[in-house]
Amino acid sequence: MEHCDTLVVVVLLAAAAAARANNECHPGNKAALLAIKSAFGNASYFNSWTPATPCCEWANVSCDGSASPYTTRRIVGVSLVNDASLAGPLPSAAIARLTALQQLVLNYMPGVNGTIPRYLTRLKATLSFLDIISMGISGPVSLFLSEITALSYLSLSFNKLTGPIPASLGDMPNLYFLDLGYNRLTGTIPPQLLRKGSYVYLSHNKLTGSLTGGVPAEFAAVNFWTIDLSYNGFQGEASFLLGANKPLLNLDLSHNAFSFNLSAVQLPEGLNSLELSHNEIYGEIPEMVVDMMLNYLNVSYNRLGGVVPAGGNMAWFDQSCFQHNKGLCGSPLPPCKQ
Ligand SMILES: *[C@@H]1O[C@H](CO)[C@@H](O)[C@H](O)[C@H]1NC(C)=O
Ligand SMILES: *[C@@H]1O[C@H](CO)[C@@H](O)[C@H](O)[C@H]1NC(C)=O
Ligand SMILES: *[C@@H]1O[C@H](CO)[C@@H](O)[C@H](O)[C@H]1NC(C)=O
Ligand SMILES: *[C@@H]1O[C@H](CO)[C@@H](O)[C@H](O)[C@H]1NC(C)=O
Ligand SMILES: *[C@@H]1O[C@H](CO)[C@@H](O)[C@H](O)[C@H]1NC(C)=O
Repeated sequence: MEHCDTLVVVVLLAAAAAARANNECHPGNKAALLAIKSAFGNASYFNSWTPATPCCEWANVSCDGSASPYTTRRIVGVSLVNDASLAGPLPSAAIARLTALQQLVLNYMPGVNGTIPRYLTRLKATLSFLDIISMGISGPVSLFLSEITALSYLSLSFNKLTGPIPASLGDMPNLYFLDLGYNRLTGTIPPQLLRKGSYVYLSHNKLTGSLTGGVPAEFAAVNFWTIDLSYNGFQGEASFLLGANKPLLNLDLSHNAFSFNLSAVQLPEGLNSLELSHNEIYGEIPEMVVDMMLNYLNVSYNRLGGVVPAGGNMAWFDQSCFQHNKGLCGSPLPPCKQ
């Protein structure tokens, strides 16, 4: 009996040891993570990152595949968020040693500063999700980002980035989500960028100019789900972003100096939200809005005239959505003069 108990214990211990071993990651990856920890002064945030424990069990990292004695697991995700005590430049050389890294999330560490590191291009075949939000990152939106061809999701919002948006971002084969909002970017939008991507957020920058600066043919294929250009200095035409057969769901052009005739614009059938306030848009609100499933509409502070169309979802929108226009009238605004 005693012999059996010993056997059970031995088997259980062996199973536990195997499970631990299988949660171990590639030694080079483990060393890279410890180098990241060291670069941040071995901050308490990294308390679970100790050499004695299997690295796939550490907080804020994820490994590929399932545990198996026959494979070496690699770090595919690192997610460091919400720590004001972490400071200094990104430990990019160490990050680049995570050669299978697919997802890098670095959020809300305002003390982490410096420029976007070129080392990230070493991950060009694997890194598909790069999210560097609310850090102290400054300098340009580097041209070399476009070398990371695996990137499908790129957010660099709420940093201190300056300079223009590189046109080469428009050539990235897999990029469908781009958020460069809340930075200090200047210049205009490269037409290449408007040709692709499904989600583009560029709000709260210092972007200027006219969107029709490029080749008109570039814009025939503009197919976005969401585009947010709000709080910039854009001017001129933007109605090419709309159109009956576009898949557009959300458009925010507010707080710019866009100027075009809204009367003849065909709104995309599936449009959910249309924010055009604080521009110089003229003409009339197209009658077709009453047949749409709009959940948000704001055309205030423009130069629109005519009658506010009545019917459909239009009853949801209060006078603040139509206020401060040139000649707009009718419910919810005061009645039109006879
Ligand atoms: C972090 O800890 C490691 C291992 O104890 C040590 O080698 C390294 O020098 C430490 N780094 C810093 C910046 O204290
Ligand atoms: C990172 O690890 C810390 C400490 O264990 C934890 O509080 C936090 O939720 C983790 N964050 C993410 C995004 O995994
Ligand atoms: C990063 O922050 C440190 C500490 O505040 C500062 O000394 C350094 O100049 C900053 N570097 C950059 C590039 O902003
Ligand atoms: C706006 O377009 C409509 C319809 O095409 C046209 O009737 C109107 O004159 C235009 N308004 C201005 C100010 O150009
Ligand atoms: C519409 O936009 C104006 C101007 O930005 C703003 O004051 C108003 O609150 C908005 N209305 C709604 C319902 O969001």
